[in-house]
Amino acid sequence: MKDILDAILAEATPAETREKEFSALPVPGSYRGMVVRKDETGMFEGIASRDKDPRRSLHLDEVATPELGPGEALVAVMASSINYNTVWTSIFEPVSTFGFLERYGRTSPLAKRHDQPYHVVGSDLAGVILRTGAGVHAWKPGDEVVAHCLSVELERPEGHDDTMLDPEQRIWGFETNFGGLAELALVKANQLMPKPDHLTWEEAASPGLVNSTAYRQLVSRNGAAMKQGDVVLIWGASGGLGSYATQMALNGGAIPVCVVSSPEKADICRSLGAELVIDRAAEGYRFWSDEQTQNPKEWQRFGKRIRELTGGEDPDIVFEHPGRETFGASVYVARRGGQIVTCASTSGFMHSYDNRYLWMNLKRIIGSHFANYREAWEANRLIARGLIHPTLSRVYPLEQTGQAAYDVHRNAHQGKVGVLCLSPREGLGVRDQALRDRHLTAINRFRDV
Ligand SMILES: NC(=O)c1ccc[n+]([C@@H]2O[C@H](COP(=O)([O-])OP(=O)(O)OC[C@H]3O[C@@H](n4cnc5c(N)ncnc54)[C@H](OP(=O)(O)O)[C@@H]3O)[C@@H](O)[C@H]2O)c1
Repeated sequence: MKDILDAILAEATPAETREKEFSALPVPGSYRGMVVRKDETGMFEGIASRDKDPRRSLHLDEVATPELGPGEALVAVMASSINYNTVWTSIFEPVSTFGFLERYGRTSPLAKRHDQPYHVVGSDLAGVILRTGAGVHAWKPGDEVVAHCLSVELERPEGHDDTMLDPEQRIWGFETNFGGLAELALVKANQLMPKPDHLTWEEAASPGLVNSTAYRQLVSRNGAAMKQGDVVLIWGASGGLGSYATQMALNGGAIPVCVVSSPEKADICRSLGAELVIDRAAEGYRFWSDEQTQNPKEWQRFGKRIRELTGGEDPDIVFEHPGRETFGASVYVARRGGQIVTCASTSGFMHSYDNRYLWMNLKRIIGSHFANYREAWEANRLIARGLIHPTLSRVYPLEQTGQAAYDVHRNAHQGKVGVLCLSPREGLGVRDQALRDRHLTAINRFRDV
């Protein structure tokens, strides 16, 4: 692994010899990866969700390097980031991800590699390609890359309009093995995208999953197709998804109404340029009177507050992901003809809402999930051009991934939490200092807040 790292850190390697140099580097037979273990899936039984501690279930283990298949790439991972799906995996909720790996393993001999007694997690990476499999022509060893997390087989017709509709669609590092929170990772070559030159490894690794998801959910025609002037209500506006949705709304000439839960988070949204911010904790909304009963009066109070901020307008788009706790309010406050676009249910997936507000006011609920390659590429292009910036707040070493996931589980973080994998320290990997200098304040906006 040391030779690989030395080669990556020797930035001066000329482009002409790079491919040869990286192809000649021996691939280690094993590597360190952050895993959950199959024999521990029952470890949190009887414990409340919020008390399930990722620090107990995530382990840094030595695992065998998987054999490289056709259309795949083996990447030396310099940095990765924490996504909420790693929190779900680490607390074995709503289901153990070993079920995904077993089912995937049954689909083909090649997929069988993923069905292991350990699950190497992580759905983001920035790093350098070490090897490419048969049939890969667009990428080569030595290329500096980031990877999006859509894994598709594309052997059936359904996915050929929109790859998210492929019946064999999976999230890499969540529904597949050999994810990015590790020294090496196995991806399909059609997950690869160029690493933005002006970012460090850890910055480049942080937007991928959430930036692509927010792009499809909010901007793409497969999602809400936001246009200028739209009022966009963004839940968790300083969180992983929300910090990108807020930037996209501002970039696209829309009017974000940012919902957060502390004055610090409100300040961050303002510093991004959002003017309309609701601190849900300070204003004390209680959309549920008890476990079974919602309180429409609280929906009304929330809607009134949004109108106060917007000068009387209701949201054209509600950017939903908290789920059960907020969904009734989200459906209520969307404007007549508006859209509620949802990609998650952090607080519970059995939603209830008053359907009269939906049908009588011709509102639409849209389901959205990650992004196809094109959408992920467009989202990465926004980062590479300095139009959207990473929202990295804190970076942990690989050994402390459990703590990083714990922070996200406890909602004690801002924006994104990064993880250094092979990279020995922060700040490495910048190839375009001039572009970086132009955007330095924005790149560092979320750091250490
Ligand atoms: N389908 C997909 O492709 C996809 C992709 C990415 C993420 N997700 C899912 O989306 C969810 C959010 O992901 P993320 O990366 O944005 O997580 P995150 O970084 O934790 O941010 C979520 C934010 O939502 C807000 N929030 C949490 N619980 C809430 C509640 N009960 N009511 C109102 N607001 C609440 C919090 O902000 P405040 O406390 O400041 O309000 C939090 O910062 C997760 O469940 C994740 O698994 C799905």
